Amino acid sequence: MKRVAVFASGSGSNFESLVEASRQSNLGYEVVLLVTDRLDAYALERASRLNIPTKSFAPKAYATKGEYEIAILTILKQFKIDWIALAGYMRLVGSTLLEPYQQRIVNIHPSLLPHFPGKDAIGQALKAEVAQTGVTVHYIDEGIDTGPVISQEIVAVRPEDTYETLQKRIKQVEHHIYPKTLAKIMREDELNVSKTRVN
Ligand code: GAR
Repeated sequence: MKRVAVFASGSGSNFESLVEASRQSNLGYEVVLLVTDRLDAYALERASRLNIPTKSFAPKAYATKGEYEIAILTILKQFKIDWIALAGYMRLVGSTLLEPYQQRIVNIHPSLLPHFPGKDAIGQALKAEVAQTGVTVHYIDEGIDTGPVISQEIVAVRPEDTYETLQKRIKQVEHHIYPKTLAKIMREDELNVSKTRVN
């Protein structure tokens, strides 16, 4: 069973769905830690309800991004974290975390990447008046939403959509695609480990 830390900055609905899905069936991972970069993230309340340990780090309390990430890395080691799942973590991951967790950090983004990267992907899609947008789960690299895509799902934009209605349908898709994709990655991870063992 792989040990996952979820990183969030806000509401944490994706965090909650990752936890709930892994508790309902064996998906090959368990969420053992929530990390936030905000001391007031609503995700922290969800974690307390779900009985998941939390650690919050205020970036401003550190002189550099490197120091901030070293503090996080120390905790990840204590919790023996195998994988990191970003879920509404509104911050670029730096090399201090990327290097030790190479190809082991995934993110969910509310658009069909490479379209509408960065902040407010839903607002960007509405402004562009596209007929469809969607959800992407991808590996993280040093760019803004640029890492290799793992899975995507389309969400149609309806003429009557407001930000809220579109966001609601996007989140519904997110809540099933993220646990499903993590489960797939965990299976592949297991296969790679056993291949390494055979060789
Ligand atoms: C989600 O829609 C996620 O895709 C998005 O933030 C929201 C967090 O919601 N992430 C990004 O935009 C990352 N660039 P949640 O806190 O309810 O899970």
